[in-house]
Amino acid sequence: MEREGRLPEKINGSFFQKDILSLDQFDQESLSLLFDLSEAMRTIAVDAIPTGILAGNVATLLFYEPSSRTRGSFDAAIKQLGGQTVVVENPQQYSSVSKGETFEDTIQTFEAYSDIIVLRHSEVGKAKEAASVATRVPIFNAGDGIGEHPTQALLDLLTIKQHSGSLMEKVIVVGGDIKNGRTIHSLLKGLSLYKGNQIYTVSPPELSLTPEEILDYENRGLYIEPIYSMDEIPMEADFWYWTRVQKERFENPDDYARLNNKFVVTEENFNRLAGEHTGLMHPLPRVGEIEKSLDSDPRSLYLTSQIRNGMYVRMALSALVLGKLQ
Ligand code: NCD
Repeated sequence: MEREGRLPEKINGSFFQKDILSLDQFDQESLSLLFDLSEAMRTIAVDAIPTGILAGNVATLLFYEPSSRTRGSFDAAIKQLGGQTVVVENPQQYSSVSKGETFEDTIQTFEAYSDIIVLRHSEVGKAKEAASVATRVPIFNAGDGIGEHPTQALLDLLTIKQHSGSLMEKVIVVGGDIKNGRTIHSLLKGLSLYKGNQIYTVSPPELSLTPEEILDYENRGLYIEPIYSMDEIPMEADFWYWTRVQKERFENPDDYARLNNKFVVTEENFNRLAGEHTGLMHPLPRVGEIEKSLDSDPRSLYLTSQIRNGMYVRMALSALVLGKLQ
């Protein structure tokens, strides 16, 4: 089937055959539909209910950058629903890309074998480029450089909703690498769809958002305030969403060494500044920015619901995009 439309296409309540490239495509109704279905997917996964929802479907997982959770959870999600996967990791080393094949040819090749292509790439805009090449199968952006990581934001939004009952009027502290963190960029777009959300970003000034980016989020309806020390964090925020400093985006290793882990979540500062119900989130991997002793704190969501929601959301999204449930 040939797909039509300008990229990225708005979801507007119908996911069928749409690329998932950016949180710009979403609205509240489409998110509610996805989240309701993700809850149903949890039952399928937890109770090991055999289903052939994606029987006969193949997804190619084409990962030009390393991944554990995104690749693993997409693979598991497709298989939980009876579909199959072709996993291509590091194609620049192990596929015809190493022989000089163009990106376009690679995408067209895997388009011939599969019903969805899940793409992770180091360059901003590559998922959109793939989507303009692949006219017959949807592309899922699994992270394009420092651009976006929409499926991560979807699972983050679901986790916020589950933990606090809604996605409105939350005070959320976002720490780490705000400039280069693609999960943050998608999450902020998602949070801007709901009224009254207040965001405080904590980072060294070099890793903060630009004034233009702040203006863009403000125009979308977010209150956003960069802060530069832990002591400025508002007391008892609803969530702390921490991220690692994105080492691979630095040209100069000395800059990374200088800026890494300036703001670490410790048992001491979390107990002092957060509240009884503050959810502590992280897209993972973490490399020292959340103290290990917080793992067993019931407010820590990063190793439990946040990871699990990744698979449920990706199950729901794949089924919706392939038109199995609408
Ligand atoms: C993130 C990513 O790849 O952007 N990881 C993930 O998919 N959960 C975050 C990161 O690498 O820091």
